[in-house]
Amino acid sequence: MMQHFENTLDEIARAGNLRSIPTTAGEAGYVDLTSNDYMGIAADRRLFDEFVANCDFSKVYPSASASRLLSLHQDDFLALESLLASLYGREALLFNSGYHANTGIVSAIADKDTVIIADKLVHASIIDGIILSRARFVRFRHNDFDQLEKLLTEHSRQAQRLLVIVESIYSMDGDIADLPRLVELKRKFPQMLLYVDEAHGFGVRGRQGLGVAEETGTIPDIDILVGTLGKAAASSGAFVITSEIIKKFLINKARSFIFSTALSPFSCLWSKFVIEKLVGMHEERRQLLAVSNFLNENFARYNGNIRSHSQIVPLIVGNSRKAVELSGFLKEHHILALPIRRPTVPPGTERIRFSISTRFTMEMAEKLTNIINMYL
Ligand SMILES: Cc1ncc(COP(=O)(O)O)c(C=O)c1O
Repeated sequence: MMQHFENTLDEIARAGNLRSIPTTAGEAGYVDLTSNDYMGIAADRRLFDEFVANCDFSKVYPSASASRLLSLHQDDFLALESLLASLYGREALLFNSGYHANTGIVSAIADKDTVIIADKLVHASIIDGIILSRARFVRFRHNDFDQLEKLLTEHSRQAQRLLVIVESIYSMDGDIADLPRLVELKRKFPQMLLYVDEAHGFGVRGRQGLGVAEETGTIPDIDILVGTLGKAAASSGAFVITSEIIKKFLINKARSFIFSTALSPFSCLWSKFVIEKLVGMHEERRQLLAVSNFLNENFARYNGNIRSHSQIVPLIVGNSRKAVELSGFLKEHHILALPIRRPTVPPGTERIRFSISTRFTMEMAEKLTNIINMYL
């Protein structure tokens, strides 16, 4: 019986796509460009020490010990939700992770009277939510809103609801969805609901770090905005910003919210502490974008049509073996950057994905560019 699993693993390995858990991350002396700690907060011991020094541990519960609907320890959840709600000016609801949020929300919102229209590159957690929803589902070419508009026109005749799903910053290409254009489409199609995953925008973009939606002034027009706390916020969990009605609906219908033990209240306390810091990190955001843009401009000639405008910096090498080799070469230069292969990215666009953080200086970026130019 095991033969089936062994054969599949052999096939994956032959294509150069076998995954394993890396053992080198965090090695002393290495520059880590693999993590999503974009604002350098997880790596900043001083911030955590400050949090610990000011935390009243006599009041901290290590576990929610139940789903949110059954837990007796609500205070830290409510405090974090209330902070998020006041920043965004809308309702907020916490989920255990971005994966829980996307699978739970999409599958709750979309039903047989909904057509889901999603960008071709949306994250696996959104795809899984779509599959769970059993709703009708079409995809449009990445960031091609002319095609999206055609699909909206075509499906608006039969569907009661059209759920358009995009990411604000795409996790593998680093490019950005034109949110104002999507908001315009909402005006044209009254049955359209706009769903934006800000996993890579939250903390990094916008004046207060509320994401691309803040940067583009579109927060009030996005029906469902998902942010994650495990990336720039250096914590874990996720949240949705939405209307009062949809929040109530999700509390009653989102299965990942209802049927899973809630986050640790301790983790909520830390998230709240971090978000209060993130709001004022204007200079760090400016610097992060400048360094990222420098790299994106330098790597443009290798990347074909793929153009990042964010801290997610791809370098396309075109096949799995080359991506693994380049990752190894970078490691020899004490730079950790993992190869991204299919099925995570389409065949032919295998790449190195550099996750730039505020700890990565312009000087380091120049050095990295020289090393890459030496190799390619
Ligand atoms: C766009 C996007 N959405 C959702 C997730 C899932 O978030 P989490 O890691 O909190 O489960 C990720 C990555 O992990 C992501 O890149």
